[in-house]
Amino acid sequence: MKPKVFATHSLFDAAREILKDNCEVEYWTRPERPPRDEVLRRVKDKEALICLLTEKVNEELLQAAPKLRIAANVAVGFDNIDVAACTKRGVVATNTPGVLDETTADFAWTLLMAVARRLGEGEALTRSGNWTGWDLDQLVGTDVWGKTLGLVGFGRIGRAVAQRANGFRMRVIYTDAVRAPAEVENELHAEFMEMNALLEEADFISVHVPLLPETRGLFDASKFRRMRPTAFLINTARGPVVDEAALVAALENKKIAGAALDVYEKEPLIPPGLKRPNVVLAPHIASASLETRTKMACMAAENVIALFGGRRPENALNPEVLKV
Ligand code: DGY
Repeated sequence: MKPKVFATHSLFDAAREILKDNCEVEYWTRPERPPRDEVLRRVKDKEALICLLTEKVNEELLQAAPKLRIAANVAVGFDNIDVAACTKRGVVATNTPGVLDETTADFAWTLLMAVARRLGEGEALTRSGNWTGWDLDQLVGTDVWGKTLGLVGFGRIGRAVAQRANGFRMRVIYTDAVRAPAEVENELHAEFMEMNALLEEADFISVHVPLLPETRGLFDASKFRRMRPTAFLINTARGPVVDEAALVAALENKKIAGAALDVYEKEPLIPPGLKRPNVVLAPHIASASLETRTKMACMAAENVIALFGGRRPENALNPEVLKV
């Protein structure tokens, strides 16, 4: 008997190929995300769930899925999964670390450049038919090269962002709960700083921390007060790391120069106060290259295959539930 799997997305061909011989997979193939009651209904008889960050794997879902042995998230962030509840029920939870670092770093830079050089406004003007031609002070932005980049979170993605900054001859400063080894700092020309000093010195602040109880609302009014009025905030991590009401107030009161966001507190809701010319808005697509999203889906599929093949899923978040 092949294990029964519910995948809340049709995934990509390469991932389906990995699953096809060894699992009986029911795919959610409709373009919209599955409604909650549909997810709960479909997991009832399943031993594995392959899910996206839009699905909550919590006590309610675990109760609805008494046969579940693995919840494989197609994302590196796993704030949608109650790992402790999974562990209590002996369900392995997995994520997709490593494969999206470079792609996400590319996109953090895309946002940074776009907000600094007013690309959103420029694109809108060019398309509008209202562009009357070149002018000396038209859409003048802010230089990126030679400025100070502050990284909040210096894990794999933060470091990949730092690496790109060297090409822009920027000074790189970072803060993290754990200081990086000296050889990493030397290689990336990155300087460790306490949060407050970083906030005061950076021209661009890019956020790369996971969403944890201690990072929820990390960027609040007190942080924005410390930032330079010429500084920009870039967030490709998780929306709730930034208090959006405080961000809107900081923008309104010109405490900071602008922001570029890929993630939001209550996706897909975008507070009207964020829809301003000096804010670049993207729909949570930092890892969305075909190559990377395919790798993420394949990694989740491999985690499922490993478990049912009697091997340790490589990306188990709670390896203590594994017997192998
Ligand atoms: C993740 O993986 O956590 C991203 O938010 C989506 O790639």
